[in-house]
Amino acid sequence: MKRRLNQRSELNKMKAIDNELLQVITKSFDLTKSGDNQKEDLEAFQLCEAYREKLLADTTQITYEVFNMDHVDTVQNICRKAASPAKWCRFLYHMTRSLNQPRILEIGTNVGISGTYLLHSSKANNGRLTTMEGLPQLCNFSAEQFATIVPESNFAVIQGLYENTFPEVLKRDETYNLLFIDGNHKKEPTLEYFEALMDKIDQAAIFVFDDINWSQGMSEAWEQIKRNEHVNFSIDLYKLGIVIIDRNETRKNVEFGLHLEY
Ligand SMILES: C[S@@+](CC[C@H](N)C(=O)[O-])C[C@H]1O[C@@H](n2cnc3c(N)ncnc32)[C@H](O)[C@@H]1O
Repeated sequence: MKRRLNQRSELNKMKAIDNELLQVITKSFDLTKSGDNQKEDLEAFQLCEAYREKLLADTTQITYEVFNMDHVDTVQNICRKAASPAKWCRFLYHMTRSLNQPRILEIGTNVGISGTYLLHSSKANNGRLTTMEGLPQLCNFSAEQFATIVPESNFAVIQGLYENTFPEVLKRDETYNLLFIDGNHKKEPTLEYFEALMDKIDQAAIFVFDDINWSQGMSEAWEQIKRNEHVNFSIDLYKLGIVIIDRNETRKNVEFGLHLEY
């Protein structure tokens, strides 16, 4: 409630700061809130939500053997439970749309809902998405879907447990300017990803952490992340936490709070 009441003045404070990535966030937030979209954005949203609708009707069984779990679920359930809601996807979409050449790393592909939004928004700017997922069947679903949006050279779905694939991603000759950390929502791995990925960014990058209030451990991780000495700005949206690292920016650890939806 307090966050909602303070929103206007918080946004004004943010808008008064001359930092490109911070303005990417304010612009994307305003566009998401107002729904003031271009025709091409609305068309993209329709395509993304049509893909979600298709998955919500898909009863294919997915096994969790790779996590050493004797568990089976359906695509429709997984999509309902784990995929990002449309509003948050639109926020990510607008962020990507505002970047000159988006180079995105996503930890947590799932069935490719957020990835679908990210690719639709980045294709005009020849963006590239690298996304990581443990469940092999979900990797197949996502890769098939992504190939309907952009050429295969514009995305990579990296299959495997992060314990194995994360060190490999660090060795790749790639840097990123948008990092969406949405898998393995535990304190230690989240902090590990953040610290290691700071060496994989350009001069400036946006990190988006999902579910920062999902557990005590995630809240603790978020507290540490936003106070990290390399962080210039942090924006707490309760569900998401965003930090900006910009090596040309002198302001450090400036904190903001906004409300999009719960
Ligand atoms: C919340 S979902 C991602 C949702 C997606 N970003 C979206 O918004 O549509 C997180 C995904 O991370 C994967 N995951 C979690 N821990 C993992 C691990 N240790 N190794 C590999 N994949 C993992 C899960 O299988 C799940 O599909």
